[in-house]
Amino acid sequence: MAAAPAAFAATTPKGFRYADVEARIARGDFRGITKDDLGTPALVVDKAAFDKNIRTMSEHCKTTGIAVRSHCKIHKSVHIAKQQVAMGSLGISCATIAESELMVGAGIRNVLHTCQPAGKNKIMRAVHLGAKDSTFMVVADDPETVALLNEAAAAAGIKLRTLVDIYAGLTRHGHAAGKPGLEVAKKIDASKNLIFSGVMGYSGVASHTKGWEQRREQSRKDVGPVVETAMLCRKAGLNAAIITGGSTGTYNIDKEIGLTELQAGSYVFMDSAYNHIGTRAGSERYSDFGTSLHVLTTVISRNHAGQVTIDAGNKAMLKPTDQVVGRPEVVVENQGAEFGLLKWKDGNGFKLGEKVELITTNLDTTTNCYDRYYVCEGDKLVDVWPIMGRAGAVQR
Ligand SMILES: Cc1ncc(COP(=O)(O)O)c(C=O)c1O
Repeated sequence: MAAAPAAFAATTPKGFRYADVEARIARGDFRGITKDDLGTPALVVDKAAFDKNIRTMSEHCKTTGIAVRSHCKIHKSVHIAKQQVAMGSLGISCATIAESELMVGAGIRNVLHTCQPAGKNKIMRAVHLGAKDSTFMVVADDPETVALLNEAAAAAGIKLRTLVDIYAGLTRHGHAAGKPGLEVAKKIDASKNLIFSGVMGYSGVASHTKGWEQRREQSRKDVGPVVETAMLCRKAGLNAAIITGGSTGTYNIDKEIGLTELQAGSYVFMDSAYNHIGTRAGSERYSDFGTSLHVLTTVISRNHAGQVTIDAGNKAMLKPTDQVVGRPEVVVENQGAEFGLLKWKDGNGFKLGEKVELITTNLDTTTNCYDRYYVCEGDKLVDVWPIMGRAGAVQR
């Protein structure tokens, strides 16, 4: 039998490097493990950039007086949520009931479920969370939901903290602003088993509007009526202490519009959809937060000029708008479930077996595909953070 190539012999204790790496990850012993040891595709986090993003948001909140209740929809990780809370996040915002269950179950207080629970299953799970932790909050954008939440909370013998969700430019959710919104708020307040806790309005249109001034204008248009509704609530004597919404794109706009807290999420990692919305100072690249999450892939074939194949495709949520780290001119193409193509006209190609890192187009859908974050300092693995378990529904 031929001797193992030197590259393998040097790094393979007893020839079982992969099993050894897994065993050491399980023990939390990361010494000597590098990106080259990891199975791909995999999610790698640049720890320095990640820490800096959390610090930047924390400092922004301290200096401007707006709070953040960071959204976990993009990371689905208790490890990350706990770091956000340690750095001043009021609690954690969640998009799905399963995310809320994960965060409350991990002992995180002041969780806000930012989507109205509808249907028996979700209403009962929301009420169950309220019974487990009295700081847990839900939103409602429909009087019928208010009635059902109240009924379920009464049956459980609890009082559930509830906010009214007001339309802010996304037709996906939110009751009409102004008097109609006030009426829903009053209905929550009058419900014996609900505690009216404030107003929410999320403007997903403003968040990704290109150009800071344009974003500010869009925020005024979309979120202004949400804040006006909160003022109507306060005038009517309701406790609208919380006015929540906002995003990574509008974090330095939302305070002047009148929000008391942000639900920003993407800022910890950043994706290619966010990287070009422009800064306040006018530069095209949105550099307020650095890209800290990459999809690590391997070049697995190279038989045609100007292109190679990588081991990430549709199953890894590969998109033509993903970007190759360090090679912005390289075009990404999908080639089926497990594969993608990298194409270029000028410059160097890629080696067989080479690791290539990609900036994903959409954090939420990408992280939903993986089980863990490999946290790295340069090339070295320094930690592994689990992503919410894969059991259950597609939208966990
Ligand atoms: C309800 C809600 N709040 C907040 C956010 C946070 O957005 P971002 O990741 O842009 O900061 C989102 C993102 O989709 C959202 O749906």
